[in-house]
Amino acid sequence: MYNIAVIPGDGIGKEVVDATLIVLDKLPIEFNYTHAIAGDACKEETGKALPDETIKIAKESDAVLFGAAGETAADVIVRLRHELNTFVNLRPVKSLQPDKYGDIDFMIVRENTEDLYIGDEEETPEGAIARKKITKKASEKISEYAFKYAKDTGRKQVTCVHKANVLKISDGLFKNTFYEVAQNHPEIETNDFYVDATAMYLITNPLDFEVIVTTNLYGDILSDEGAGLVGGLGMIPSANIGDENGLFEPVHGSAPDIAGQQIANPAATILSACMMLDYLGESEAARKVEEVLIDVIREGKNVTPDLGGTSTTTQMAEYIASKL
Ligand code: NAI
Ligand code: MG
Repeated sequence: MYNIAVIPGDGIGKEVVDATLIVLDKLPIEFNYTHAIAGDACKEETGKALPDETIKIAKESDAVLFGAAGETAADVIVRLRHELNTFVNLRPVKSLQPDKYGDIDFMIVRENTEDLYIGDEEETPEGAIARKKITKKASEKISEYAFKYAKDTGRKQVTCVHKANVLKISDGLFKNTFYEVAQNHPEIETNDFYVDATAMYLITNPLDFEVIVTTNLYGDILSDEGAGLVGGLGMIPSANIGDENGLFEPVHGSAPDIAGQQIANPAATILSACMMLDYLGESEAARKVEEVLIDVIREGKNVTPDLGGTSTTTQMAEYIASKL
């Protein structure tokens, strides 16, 4: 039995998490769910976007399933990643409809604890300053993870993405550390690009990428771009992994433009749950759910409007569950 902390959050977060639980409930695995609150609505009710009780439940769980926060995202999800010490954010960009989007399949390995996302900002007489933190230790750890991931999954190349021509000291450290770590992995090919050029290459040459390792902000931006390559934000899951904790969440946010309408695509969250199953050692179940989800998406009937169907979020999940 696994203890899962469930934090649906705001907007479509609740809809896609509820849908994912319908799918998980069909598996021959016992989950003990503890529901916890966080986000904009939680802040309005309790005064805190991320109550201590929620952090405690997350820390004590075997894994966390998270939906999305709204405007309080920095205080909720960025903080939770810190509290749980999840130093890596894995964001697979994989086309589940290769006929439509080409056979795109690469992994973004995003550093998850520093960069501008430490949120160290201040007002100055002229305006504002934000500090960007890059450490040798975190850069080593994330590069090491990327090379290990490449080896474990049979990938041959790791690409470092940075902006070391302008940010010579901070991104320079990230890039140089990447090449130092690369020396321990001579069987893996390496290259590096500036983040702006990468933004273009992802569109012109997406098949050239296998594993991208990058800093926190660039990883965030490039993963939304990756979503755009393979059918939208409803398709991309993510895993936040540390030495002791795992938190699994779709890449998308609370999507206020479609919240409450039951039209959000639950695939990203269901795939995040598959990454959670892998993390828990339940890979057989993970592959099974993935297989059924891919079949349902390719069939194209019992799916949400963004995938060309007319199903609601719940109906799509129920259909997937019925096939398990
Ligand atoms: P968003 O990811 O919520 O939405 C961007 C666009 O993608 C919208 O047009 C939305 O309708 C669409 N979309 C997102 N998920 C979808 C799904 N499952 N199915 C179909 N379409 C989907 O990003 P946005 O609009 O920039 O931010 C909205 C709120 O979410 C903000 O308050 C932001 O702070 C928060 N946010 C939270 C995140 C988190 O909790 N991890 C991540 C990103 C944003
Ligand atoms: Mg994002």
